[in-house]
Amino acid sequence: MTQDELKALVGQAALQYVVPGEIVGVGTGSTVNKFIDALASMKDRIKGAVSSSVASTERLQALGIPVFDSNAVEELSVYIDGADEIDGRGYMIKGGGAALTREKIVAAQSRRFVCIADESKLVGTLGRFPVPVEVIPMATQRLIRQFAAMGGSAQVRMKDGKALVTDNGQSIVDVSGLRIADPLAFEDEVSQWPGVVTVGVFAHQKAAVCLLGTAGGVRTIE
Ligand code: A5P
Repeated sequence: MTQDELKALVGQAALQYVVPGEIVGVGTGSTVNKFIDALASMKDRIKGAVSSSVASTERLQALGIPVFDSNAVEELSVYIDGADEIDGRGYMIKGGGAALTREKIVAAQSRRFVCIADESKLVGTLGRFPVPVEVIPMATQRLIRQFAAMGGSAQVRMKDGKALVTDNGQSIVDVSGLRIADPLAFEDEVSQWPGVVTVGVFAHQKAAVCLLGTAGGVRTIE
């Protein structure tokens, strides 16, 4: 099976976690795009979605799925999103698609995070994938030095020759060379650095369930 087919497999499998009659939290990325496409088949049985990015909102709306403001909804039963890396405990690195801040917000208002990913995303220890961090641009150079002091190498994410601008008007730095043995401690520490908007380690908002696409089918890790 190709990686694309594995993503489609888990996107379809995630439908079993969608609660009929309710609003579902929707993440961002190529795997979630497969989920959104599958969700269209049950759009008449759900109230709608809270979305984590402009891209997902546009895709949901194009398929006729109503999108609600996150402030209009107190709590969601389930949030479905992909990951750049996930370990066996449900801790993740996210933000490869630059949507980490809104993803963490929607995950935080959801009772259960269901991660959908192909098997290449499963790791023993987080850190092979550079950790995305959304930052306030005026703090970028100081934060790059702070990551260097902890052994990481941070680079500003570029797009079309300029610093990428997120949906929230901020920048992203990608930090490579880290081995994150204690994701909770790492998230707590970096989140407090002035100028950090969101660190792309999801430890407090970890996955309760991971649907992993494998050659043998969907493997469920709980
Ligand atoms: C978006 O900002 C990310 O957190 C995505 O969830 C993550 O990058 C996974 O994306 P893919 O499904 O495209 O691999």
